[in-house]
Amino acid sequence: MKVAVVTGASRGIGYAIANALAAKDYKVVGISRNIEPGAPFALTIQADISDIESQTAVLSQIAAKFGRIDLLVNNAGVAPLKRMDILEAGVESFDRLMNINLRGPFFFTQMVVNYMLEGDAVRRIGGEELKKSVIFITSISAVASSPERAEYCVSKAGLSMAAQVYADRLASTGISVYEIRPGVIYTDMTAGVKEKYDKKIAEGLIPEGRWGEPEDIAKAVAALAGGEIPYSTGTIIEISGGMNIRHL
Ligand SMILES: NC(=O)c1ccc[n+]([C@@H]2O[C@H](COP(=O)([O-])OP(=O)(O)OC[C@H]3O[C@@H](n4cnc5c(N)ncnc54)[C@H](OP(=O)(O)O)[C@@H]3O)[C@@H](O)[C@H]2O)c1
Repeated sequence: MKVAVVTGASRGIGYAIANALAAKDYKVVGISRNIEPGAPFALTIQADISDIESQTAVLSQIAAKFGRIDLLVNNAGVAPLKRMDILEAGVESFDRLMNINLRGPFFFTQMVVNYMLEGDAVRRIGGEELKKSVIFITSISAVASSPERAEYCVSKAGLSMAAQVYADRLASTGISVYEIRPGVIYTDMTAGVKEKYDKKIAEGLIPEGRWGEPEDIAKAVAALAGGEIPYSTGTIIEISGGMNIRHL
């Protein structure tokens, strides 16, 4: 049995990740503020990732039911409720994004990897070596500036560095840490800016010429899960239809 914990699993990218991992025989624990038991989930837990005090109870539920965690996917995240120029952006929105996108996953990861380390980090299942992993879903916004949602960019840049530091600290333990940077993916988060990005994509914003789908990110997570790319950690994989390409 191998167990994956996916935060923000109720919809969008997280739900697609849950489906892809269930298809790879993971028991998937889905966490969101509102989540219904359903197809890809072996366990669902309603929790707010920014509520650090409730995190111990979340881990207790997982530990009681499965006794192990093999993979953590830090996917839960939010955009600003309202886009505001960096010269006007307010403290409330800044704190909301830091709490949900950075502070929550930073401490959730700390708790989960300490739990992972209580067992053997590297396990053998049917003779096959299964490494434990942590995957951070950040964003191209970790490195691409959007002056009308600076707090989102800063939260994702912080999460990107958290991935590097966890990777560094855990490299010798057998726990691999990866960062996946999605580009522009069609979900509830981007539904409100669909027309804006339809136009930008038509004008050439994305080399591959289309919106990303949640399944594009889920396939990358499934490919990384289970240590199938050995001798790698702290690796950043951008899934953005080529927005990473610098061109003239
Ligand atoms: N869509 C994109 O273009 C794009 C691009 C780059 C990166 N990303 C990142 O990818 C991740 C998933 O985004 P998405 O597009 O799939 O967004 P989405 O469709 O809005 O889904 C967000 C998920 O996170 C959960 N969530 C939000 N706040 C939470 C909290 N405080 N505690 C626990 N769960 C919470 C939501 O469930 P509840 O509301 O029920 O809690 C939902 O399951 C985010 O980290 C986002 O920043 C998205």
